[in-house]
Amino acid sequence: MRFFKKTISDVPLESTTVLLRADYNVPLKNDGTIADDFRIRASLPTVRRLLKDGCKVVIISHLGRPEGRDPKLSLEPAALRLAQLLGEPVRFVDQTVGDKVRMAIKRAPKRGVIVLENLRFHAEEEANDEDFARKLARDSGARYFVQDGFGVVHRDHASTAAITLFLPSVAGRLLEKEHTSITGAMSSPKRPLVAVMGGAKVSDKIGVIEKLVDKADTILIGGAMANTFLADSGVNVGASKYENDQGAVIKKIHEAVRQKVGDAKAAEFLRLPTDVTVAKRIERPTDVRYVGAKEVASNDMILDIGPRTAESYVKALRRAGTVVWNGTMGYAELAVFAKGSAAVAEALAEHPEVESVIGGGDTADFAIHWDKKKGGSFSHVSTGGGASLELMAGKKLPGIEHLLDA
Ligand code: 3PG
Repeated sequence: MRFFKKTISDVPLESTTVLLRADYNVPLKNDGTIADDFRIRASLPTVRRLLKDGCKVVIISHLGRPEGRDPKLSLEPAALRLAQLLGEPVRFVDQTVGDKVRMAIKRAPKRGVIVLENLRFHAEEEANDEDFARKLARDSGARYFVQDGFGVVHRDHASTAAITLFLPSVAGRLLEKEHTSITGAMSSPKRPLVAVMGGAKVSDKIGVIEKLVDKADTILIGGAMANTFLADSGVNVGASKYENDQGAVIKKIHEAVRQKVGDAKAAEFLRLPTDVTVAKRIERPTDVRYVGAKEVASNDMILDIGPRTAESYVKALRRAGTVVWNGTMGYAELAVFAKGSAAVAEALAEHPEVESVIGGGDTADFAIHWDKKKGGSFSHVSTGGGASLELMAGKKLPGIEHLLDA
């Protein structure tokens, strides 16, 4: 599928200065070091390509949700990690706009990489302030703006929207790959298209579920989301986490399913766990058991799908042409409740002929840590949480829409 926006391959970037928006919003450990550099690694193809073209690369990003300047959310550790991964020096500037930025960029060598300080230290970033965007463009001395921060393109911010008023703006490699992988799986999948949906809430993913009822051939539900569906159908989910205010939404989903496949096939199309993994507590559980989905005791919590469900979901995945997976099957932070998610990951990794697109956030975290190839066993692991959900739901994302048309 051809990407509908201009990319770094479509403009003469050679030997120019480029302002590159990345998403280095990475998880940090308590000691301030980076817990997971997936998003930094994902930016490397674009950075390397720009360096190959002799560009001076000025990188901007946000990190966290600071209110004003907060040293704990400095991008300096990200700049250091980028230097290690690139094997090239990276200069970090502790300002985002202003004279210091201008001078540092001017002094940097041709083919230099400069990382500027956290965009969100300035309230103007999230306010999509034009004056701030003008300063970013001017002080970087850039000839082009490259949007590659896929995880943030659903936001209407100065570095995703207003900046495009001041520089010709194109997509980087990561943004292009994210867009073509996600929209390709949704709009022209190899069939059957099997969707695996899980995670905590139905309410977070309603747009995607509605879209999938239309596009997919089978939907497999797990995670706390399954508890909400089970509880809505009158099943006792005991002490499990579920949403008790989603009745109308679930009714609408079931109606759409029945309209699409008819009453007789509805339960086969939208599949819920038939057995579940339960325990009385999450931390250090001593009483982990597998029970039928209709046999959950009132003081039990459902914390994963059960082995029978995992087996039947795996069978459906093996027959798939394309799989989109969004949301873990249980409380996957603990190995004892990660078996359902691991079964899904294994089914996909063992069948590389199945096109597999894994949503960002917790699902990507799980898949990358589970996979010996750090996500390389799947066709695409998204770096975007909210952005990938919105794209799957068919929404237009401001950070993409504002780029130059192809
Ligand atoms: C993300 O982590 O989803 C992106 O970096 C966007 O961050 P935000 O939700 O704070 O805008």
